[in-house]
Amino acid sequence: MKIIRAKDYYDMSRKAANIISAQVIMKPNCVLGLATGGTPVGTYKQLIDWYNKGDVDFSEVTTVNLDEYRGLPRENEQSYWSFMHENFFNHVNIDPARINLPDGTNMDAEAECKRYDEVIHNVGGIDLQLLGIGHDGHIGFNEPGSAFELGTHCVDLTDETIEANKRFFDKKEDVPRQAYTMGIKTIMQARKVLMVANGVGKAEIIKKAFFGPVTPEVPASILQMHPDFILVGDAEALSLI
Ligand code: F6R
Repeated sequence: MKIIRAKDYYDMSRKAANIISAQVIMKPNCVLGLATGGTPVGTYKQLIDWYNKGDVDFSEVTTVNLDEYRGLPRENEQSYWSFMHENFFNHVNIDPARINLPDGTNMDAEAECKRYDEVIHNVGGIDLQLLGIGHDGHIGFNEPGSAFELGTHCVDLTDETIEANKRFFDKKEDVPRQAYTMGIKTIMQARKVLMVANGVGKAEIIKKAFFGPVTPEVPASILQMHPDFILVGDAEALSLI
C-alpha cells in the first residue's frame, strides 16, 4: 500500500490524474476501471485538460465502470452512464464502442451480472481501477458485510448510501434501491488500484480501512492485501493517519 499525501482537492486530483495518464502513456490500449461520485470529478477534469493540451490520448483505451443503478435507463440524468459522459467521456477521444457499464435496464440480474463479468474477462481484466470510498467503507456498491469473493452482483443499497446519494436526486424516494456493482473479487484482480479521498468526512474511515483489521465490515480494508494499491488523499482525509 502506498499513500500519497496531497495538499488539497485540486492537488489530489492532479496527482491521481498523473497516475492515470502515466498508465495510458505506458499502455495506450489499457483497460481503465472508472468510478462515479464526487471525489473523482476533479481527476476527470484534469485528464480532460491534459487531453486538450495533447498530452494524453484515449483513442485506444477501454473503460469498465464500477457500478450502475438497477432500473435507471442510460438517458436518465442520474444514471452513472450519464454521469460518466457528462464528466469525462464526452470531452475526450474515447471510442464509444470501448465504454462499458452495467446495463441498469436489464432487470434480469443474474444475466446482467454474468454478462458484465464476461465483458471484464474478455477485455483482459483491468489495468488500473479508480475508486472512491464511502463513509461506511464501501467500494463500488460493496456495502459492509459484502463477501470478498464476489464478482458482479446486484445489491440492495443501505440507508446510509441512499441518504448520501439523495443529494443528486430531487427527493430521497427517487434514489433507486438497488444497483449492479463489480464485486470485490473483480476489484482485487485489477493490476493496479488507485483510490482518491478528500475532506475531513473521510478521515475516520480512511484510518479504519487502512490502519485497522481487514474485515468485510469495512469492505475497503481488503485493499491492504492488494499488491499495487495507491491511496491519494488530501490533508483532511489523511489527517488521522
Ligand atoms: C462510485 C462508487 C462509490 C463512490 C463512493 C464515494 O462509482 O462506486 O463507491 O466511490 O460512494 O463517493 P463520493 O466520491 O461521492 O464521496
